[in-house]
Amino acid sequence: MTKLKRIGVLTSGGDAPGMNAAIRAVTRAAIYNGLEVYGIRHGYEGMINGWMKQLKSYSVSNIIQRGGTVLKTARSKEFRTPEGRKKAYNQLVKNNIDACVIIGGDGSFAGARIFSEEYDIPFVGIPGTIDNDLFGTDYTIGYDTAINTVVEAVDKIRDTASSHNRLFFVEVMGRNAGFLALRSGIACGAEAILIPEVETHYDKLSEFLESGFHRKKSSGIILVAEGKEAGGAFEIANRVKEEFKEYDVRVTILGHIQRGGSPSAFDRVTASKLGVAAIDALLDDQKSIMIGVANNEVVHVPFNKTIKNNKPINQSMLDIADILTI
Ligand code: F6P
Repeated sequence: MTKLKRIGVLTSGGDAPGMNAAIRAVTRAAIYNGLEVYGIRHGYEGMINGWMKQLKSYSVSNIIQRGGTVLKTARSKEFRTPEGRKKAYNQLVKNNIDACVIIGGDGSFAGARIFSEEYDIPFVGIPGTIDNDLFGTDYTIGYDTAINTVVEAVDKIRDTASSHNRLFFVEVMGRNAGFLALRSGIACGAEAILIPEVETHYDKLSEFLESGFHRKKSSGIILVAEGKEAGGAFEIANRVKEEFKEYDVRVTILGHIQRGGSPSAFDRVTASKLGVAAIDALLDDQKSIMIGVANNEVVHVPFNKTIKNNKPINQSMLDIADILTI
C-alpha cells in the first residue's frame, strides 16, 4: 500500500499547449485513486514561496482546450541554489505534500532530479515543451500543436512569397534543437530546412541558389531553426542577400505564436495518457523518472538519462527532407 496522501502538481519552464490537459489528467487521476492534489503556481518559484492550493475535480473543468497553463509557469533561478531548494522542501513539508508531478522540459527535470537526491520527496515528470528535445520520448506535449501553428503560418506566408516572387526565411523555435523546424518544414513543403543538427545545410542551399533556383521556381520558403549555429534567419538571409543579389529576400520570425493556442487533439490525448500514467507511477513508488511515449507505448525514463543524453534527430525524417526539399 502506498503511503502517499497528497501530491503537488506544477508546470515549469516555457509554457506549451496541452499543459492544461496534463494538469487536468494528473488532478483527476490522483483524485480517482484517493489522493489529494495541490496545484503549485508559478513553477518552482511557487514551491519556494508556498503559492499552492488544493485542486478538486471541478477546479480543472473547462481547461483541456486552453493553451498556456492555468497554474502559470516560471524559470526559477532560486531553485538552482541549495538555499532555494531548502525553502521549497520546507514549504512542501508544511503543506503535507508527499510527492510531486512536474510538467516541463529538461531544465525542470534537472531541478527535480537534484531536489529528489537532496530530499526524500519523489518527483515524476511529464514532458511538456514545443521543442520535442527530450531524450527517451517520441513526443513532448505541445510539439504537435506548435507544428500545426507553424504550418498554418507558413501556408499564409507562401501566398505572399508566390505573389511577389520572393524568397522567405522563416525562423522557427526549438532552442538548440531542430525537431520543430524539420517536421513542420516537411509538412509545409519548405524548399529548404536548416537545423542545428546538420552543418552542411547552408552549403546545400547556397549551391542550389547558385544553380539558378529563380529560373526554375519563382518563390521559396526556407525554414531556419533558431538554434542554427550559422545564425538565425536574419543572419542567414543577410548572407544570401549579399551572395545572391537577384533574390528578393524577406524574413519572418514566428516567435511566441508557436507556444500559444488551443492544443491539438493529439496533444490533449497524449497529455491525458501521460497524466494518468504519472499517477500510476507515483502509486507504484517510482521516482525521478519522466513518463514518456515511445512507439505509442507509455515508457518510464530515468531523469538521469533524459537530461544527460542528446535526443538524436530521426534519420528517416532527414532522408525524407533531403529527397523532398530542393
Ligand atoms: O523551450 C521552449 C522555447 O519556446 C524555445 O523554443 C525557445 O528557445 C525558448 O523557449 C524561448 O524562451 P522565452 O519564452 O523565455 O523567451
